Amino acid sequence: MSEPILEMRGIAKDFEGVHALSQVDLTVESGEILAIVGENGAGKSTLMKIISGVYPHGEYRGEITYRGEPLHLSHTRDAQNRGIAIIHQELNLVTGMTVAENIFLGHEPHSFGWVDRKRMRRETQELLDRLGLRFSPDTFVSNLSVGQSQMTEIAKALAQEVELLILDEPTSALTDPEIDTLFELLAQLKNQGVTSIYISHKLDEVFRIADRVTVLRDGSAIATWKTSETDTNRIVSAMVGRDIEDLFPWSARPIGETILRVENLTVEDPAHHRPLLDDISFELKQGEILGLSGLMGAGRTELAETLFGVAPGRRTGKVLLAGREVEISSPQDAIRAGIALLTEDRKQSGCLFNLSIQKNVSLASMKKVSTGPWVRLSSERELAERFAGELAIKSSNLGNLIGTLSGGNQQKVLVARWLATEPRVLILDEPTRGVDVGAKVEIYRLMMELAREGMAILMISSELPEILGMSDRILVMHEGRIAACLDREEADQEKVMHLATGAELATVSD
Ligand SMILES: Nc1ncnc2c1ncn2[C@@H]1O[C@H](COP(=O)(O)OP(=O)(O)O)[C@@H](O)[C@H]1O
Ligand SMILES: [Mg+2]
Repeated sequence: MSEPILEMRGIAKDFEGVHALSQVDLTVESGEILAIVGENGAGKSTLMKIISGVYPHGEYRGEITYRGEPLHLSHTRDAQNRGIAIIHQELNLVTGMTVAENIFLGHEPHSFGWVDRKRMRRETQELLDRLGLRFSPDTFVSNLSVGQSQMTEIAKALAQEVELLILDEPTSALTDPEIDTLFELLAQLKNQGVTSIYISHKLDEVFRIADRVTVLRDGSAIATWKTSETDTNRIVSAMVGRDIEDLFPWSARPIGETILRVENLTVEDPAHHRPLLDDISFELKQGEILGLSGLMGAGRTELAETLFGVAPGRRTGKVLLAGREVEISSPQDAIRAGIALLTEDRKQSGCLFNLSIQKNVSLASMKKVSTGPWVRLSSERELAERFAGELAIKSSNLGNLIGTLSGGNQQKVLVARWLATEPRVLILDEPTRGVDVGAKVEIYRLMMELAREGMAILMISSELPEILGMSDRILVMHEGRIAACLDREEADQEKVMHLATGAELATVSD
């Protein structure tokens, strides 16, 4: 094994009485990619801010050794001078400046006393090319997408000599191709001898790129393994602090009658030459969890939105609920028919941050808790209390804003909102995106419980392990069509990927 580049001993840091870190020991080997994982609040970002001088020497306890010498940083600039670069979880670019200006902020090249803009642009262009980025050095940061901004931060870190690169949850805002580019880059940097610390809560990423993984929990380093010598269940158990025999609490149970039948559903897209949905037929039974898999743009969300009456576009084909054809052209129609949809993006459409937890629960059931135009607050509270209890939503007061809850609990509130409408079919679009592992397991348990009580669940997910782990059957979509329907037993990662990429078209079975 190689020399450690960084050693931390007994690191502790408090924030007004909160122990963010207590006695952390961490070793980073020279030239490795070390992943650090842990649930929200475990202390990962705080630890990285100590390594990078955001919290200078004196604002924490414990000792740090870098390249065999004590490291006493008094400023982030010190860290940069030592070759330590960090890409923070929150973006740090100046939006009113261009990409090139941001990348060279504070170390602009000069010639004859003037900022050498030409050289700045040229070197920025080289960096952008290296990262496979297509925007110009002159683009204003305010015009970049979140993913592009994140990649610009990475370019900025690479503009200087880097020995130790720290990435704090860099992929949460990146698209799949951007993630691939980032991972190629990390591998390339590793070949050049750069050491990286990679923070993430996505374990598939950890196994994909890291040599070792350290688990932080409640401000302590709990365990470190070589990624080749551990597995998901062990890491998850260490992260949540209790044994998780199984990340996916799926078990066999009786499946009931067909409740939802979709026949030859086609949705035209006037903007494109091929339909958004092309001759979709499938059925969903009571008590069944049907996984819906496919690449981005395969039509999964369009299918969910069409069933919920929010998708535009001309439609042909039939939707039958309990054997009766229903016409769904608005969410009201869908709710009346017994279909509920938990949308993909909690922050954009589902979660109303300026409303209380209670209001967020009752929102889709206002009729039930109102007399005429008047909301009966006691009924509303009763409804919220019932579901908060059933779903074990952890909150001291249902009158608090939903924003005060953790991501996992916010998601449960939204599930509660839809359960309150007493649906027969529950559509979940990416139900565990952005929640940490402990909360994921709780959401899976909840799905199992609902299914056992007879709820028919259509689960859209981009995470293959989740699809394979929780579904009774799996629909794979490719370019607006159903490529195949697989039984749980016959499905595996390779088969689903194959079908999703259109490599092979099997016949549809119901
Ligand atoms: N600037 C701060 N002020 C007060 N508390 C903080 C601050 N930064 C972090 N904390 C607290 O320290 C703990 C660890 O936070 P953090 O390091 O951000 O965790 P992670 O990155 O693993 O999610 C949390 O309880 C968090 O609320
Ligand atoms: Mg963090």
